Amino acid sequence: MIKIASNRNSIYERRTSRKLLAYNPRFKRGLKKEPLPIQESYFLILKHFDDLVHTQKAFTNEAGTIKVKRSRRGRVRGKDNETTLRVDCANKAFFVKITSPGDNPMAFRAGRTVKAYRTLIQRIKPFLKNQEYKVRTLQPLIVYETIIHGVKKNLLVSEFVPEGFEVLSKLKKTRDGARAIKFVERVNKEIGGNGLYDLGPLNVFFNPKTKGLIFFDPNA
Ligand SMILES: Nc1ncnc2c1ncn2[C@@H]1O[C@H](COP(=O)(O)OP(=O)(O)OP(=O)(O)O)[C@@H](O)[C@H]1O
Ligand SMILES: [Mg+2]
Repeated sequence: MIKIASNRNSIYERRTSRKLLAYNPRFKRGLKKEPLPIQESYFLILKHFDDLVHTQKAFTNEAGTIKVKRSRRGRVRGKDNETTLRVDCANKAFFVKITSPGDNPMAFRAGRTVKAYRTLIQRIKPFLKNQEYKVRTLQPLIVYETIIHGVKKNLLVSEFVPEGFEVLSKLKKTRDGARAIKFVERVNKEIGGNGLYDLGPLNVFFNPKTKGLIFFDPNA
């Protein structure tokens, strides 16, 4: 196991020959206590994978404690972003992004995602104390390389962003949104580049009521 950061937001990485599994240690502690919902959710996704990708149907496990569905807020499917899901289990909502990287070197790759988040979490620190905006980053909970129906896939699990947040680029025509975009541009200018990319309004959630800004989907 490689420890790649030591603050409370650290992400641990474990490499085996085929899979890469990284997880947030706080989440790992929860997993130990209650490993079943996570595994069961994963099996539920595998079982209904094609329907989840192509339809809006929701699927539940037998006990009715876990529900999986295509994410409402997941945007129009991108080329590499195969599907985005919402998993409701144990009174929590999780976001799952699944991609088939194929041969595209720019697609979400587990190792690069971990690296990008690690850099983002480190560099954004000075902005966490901003007076106007409540800045935070999305915490990746699990980053996983796996094989589904014989095809290599990457999975990213994070908390499902709460109600009230919207992708910032969608709010560019509002006064608060335009102002927040200026702020994000300033952040990007200061900490973007040199191993940290895609810190734009497409990859930031904004809640105009609370002035919350959540950075996500960084690229390394
Ligand atoms: N944690 C989350 N909770 C809820 N919805 C999310 C979450 N993360 C991402 N999304 C939604 O899924 C979309 C795609 O996520 P992400 O940016 O990680 O993937 P992407 O492949 O880069 O797509 P895009 O080109 O839109 O940025 C986001 O634009 C947002 O609408
Ligand atoms: Mg994105």
